[in-house]
Amino acid sequence: MKADEKVTIPKLQAMKVAGEPITSLTAYDYPLAQLCDRAGIEIVLVGDSVANNVLGYRSTLPVTMEEMLHHTRAVRRGVRRALLVGDMPFLSYNSSDEQAIANAGRFLKEAGAEAVKLEGGAVMAGRVEALERAGIAVMGHIGLTPQRVSQLGGYGVQGRDEPRARQLLADALALEAAGAFALVLEKIPWQLAQLITRRLKILTIGIGAGPYCDGQVLVSHDLLGLSELKIKFAKRYLNLAELIEQALVSYRQEVKAKEFPLLEEHSFSMDQEVIDKLAGQ
Ligand code: KIV
Repeated sequence: MKADEKVTIPKLQAMKVAGEPITSLTAYDYPLAQLCDRAGIEIVLVGDSVANNVLGYRSTLPVTMEEMLHHTRAVRRGVRRALLVGDMPFLSYNSSDEQAIANAGRFLKEAGAEAVKLEGGAVMAGRVEALERAGIAVMGHIGLTPQRVSQLGGYGVQGRDEPRARQLLADALALEAAGAFALVLEKIPWQLAQLITRRLKILTIGIGAGPYCDGQVLVSHDLLGLSELKIKFAKRYLNLAELIEQALVSYRQEVKAKEFPLLEEHSFSMDQEVIDKLAGQ
């Protein structure tokens, strides 16, 4: 795909067929959204991981629809080319098709998302079908699904044993049959991700799922070194937290030492005549 071409679902599908890897990152605000777009990232996801990475919650469970819409709007203003996907927060789609359509519709109508993502396997197939029928493109998410952390018993690797691996394959097939256009595969063995990717016509986007998915997604704060967690599958390309801290300390030191602001470089002056008048009242 050309660098300035708008990314669409059919174009992403064509990338899978052509074997061209798809890139995806999370963004939660306008500046990072612009940078992702400029870097040529194909899918920008406003993940519910905004909960931990920006809002200071301990898990993704507390983040609300209003908070997700607020961040999605900001990202929308920064993204021109990439496909923008909004992540449906916990319990915003779990009760009924009506609830899911109403909330997914808000991502599209009020925040400018082009698709939504929701967590869950075969149990969510009916919901995905209802959303698709309503004209809403859906990205599924299976494997480690952080909204179900209590049921899963933690954030460990999923699908290592045969029954669970079979279940994940069945989940993937059910979501494809329901009309999802893509699936996030999180923290599953690479062999299982490869098998699912081969079996599906729709896109697989891996995170901690090895190199054989159709695309990769990372949490931008992990990649940039802004999150505190050290995660095996999240390669850190930069230690931004350290750079920011150094800059803040330097700023503080310079103000304390009266080295910032400087008169010539950082200050504004006025005519002496005006100063004289003010001084003489
Ligand atoms: O919320 C998020 O950041 C996600 C990614 C891990 C895919 O769901």
